Order: sequence, then C-alpha cells, then structure tokens
Amino acid sequence: MSHEVVEKNVGLMALLILLVISVGGLVEIVPLFFLKTTTEPVEGLKPYTALQLEGRDVYIREGCYLCHSQMIRPFRAETERYGHYSVAGEFVYDHPFQWGSKRTGPDLARVGGRYSDDWHRVHLMNPRDVVPESIMPGFPWLADNTMDTKLTQKKMRVMNMLISATCNGCTTYSDEEIQRAPDELKDKTEMDALIAYLQVMGTSISSRR
Ligand code: HEC
Repeated sequence: MSHEVVEKNVGLMALLILLVISVGGLVEIVPLFFLKTTTEPVEGLKPYTALQLEGRDVYIREGCYLCHSQMIRPFRAETERYGHYSVAGEFVYDHPFQWGSKRTGPDLARVGGRYSDDWHRVHLMNPRDVVPESIMPGFPWLADNTMDTKLTQKKMRVMNMLISATCNGCTTYSDEEIQRAPDELKDKTEMDALIAYLQVMGTSISSRR
C-alpha cells in the first residue's frame, strides 16, 4: 500500500507535508500581490503629512498599539460600534501597519474626526478628566516635547522608497515637500503631531455609524 510507504518514511512524509503546505500558502498569498484592492490606495486616501508621519512615530514609540488595534473586522458587532470595516487599500501608506489585535482600549481605525483636537489634548494629558472610568495612562510629556525634526526628511525619503516598491497609484513626497518639512514642524510639539495623526485615521472611508 502506497500510504504505508509514506507513513513509515519520516523523510518522505516531511517532504510531502512541506509540499502540501507550500501549495496551500502560495495559493493564498501570491494573488494578493496582484490584486488591485490590496496594492492600490482607496479613493481619497492621501499620504501622511510630515506632521502626521511624525505623530505616527510618536504613537509607535509610546506603545499605543499595545492597547489599541487599528483594524475593524467585517462583523456587525464591530461595524456598528466603529464604522465601516477596514480595507487593505487604506493602509498602503502604513509602514509598518498598526493593525494589531490587542484591544485593552477601543479600536482606533476610524477615530479620526470623532473628537475635537482639544478633547484629545485633555484625554492624552489625563484620560480620567474626560472618561472618569478610563484605565488608559496619561502622556503629559508629549505636550512639553517639541518635535525633533532631525530625521524627518530622511523618514520621508525612506517612505518614498517603501511606497514606490509596494503600491500602485500611490503618491510619493515631492522634493519640495521634503525640503520644507522641518520648517513646518519647527514649533510643533509631539502632542500636536500625535493628534494630527489621530485625526486623519480612517477618514478616507467616511460612512460611520
Ligand atoms: C494601558 C492601555 C492603553 C494604552 C497604552 C493607551 N491606551 Fe488609549 N485607551 C485605553 C482605554 C482603556 C481606553 C478607553 C477609555 C478612554 O477613552 O480613556 C482608551 C481610549 C483611547 C481613545 C479614545 C477612543 C474612542 O474611540 O473613544 C484614544 C483616541 C486613545 N485611547 C489614544 C491612545 C493613544 C494615542 C495612546 C498612546 C499615546 C494610547 N491611547 C495608549 C487604553 C490604553
């Protein structure tokens, strides 16, 4: 019996398992590189401005992703609470993406425009001032730290490289935008940058609730 041959030969079995898994994996993964929905931006999506881009780095540095996901699943319970489910084309400018899966706090994928800048400022200083039962920590130092712009231009150039390598129809930063970025950020605090980032999150798809 040929099945017995396979079962009694570990090497052969390992090889065949590897073959089956590779085919399964490739069939799922390879098409994603060619599908427009995964490689092209959704309509209306703009690249992050220099300020938003720096805000995103503050988000990562402060570990916001440890408690917040940015990925609304296509289930009723999620879309009723957060709005339109997330689609791949919304994340073409996100390197690295912040989808996550840990939700100690709510998903933030569509938090842009939900609150005012002032609400965010108060909330980030001390969340309990606006949400009494909140267990989120405060991040008051962000208001004191002025933006460090030493690496801003370099980050934008790296983004250009990543964007053009992975995305069809995306816009890269022009030399002029890169040139004037440090000036634009000069008087901004890390708090300003983070709020600018939060306010643009998920706003290219607007249907919410
Ligand atoms: C220890 C976990 C934790 C960390 C770290 C954390 N949060 Fe939160 N966050 C929460 C919880 C819990 C809530 C819900 C209560 C509230 O609104 O404060 C929340 C709420 C929020 C909200 C309001 C969302 C909504 O839809 O009402 C925003 C915006 C937010 N967090 C941003 C941030 C940012 C930005 C950071 C990083 C600087 C951060 N959070 C870090 C736990 C956390």
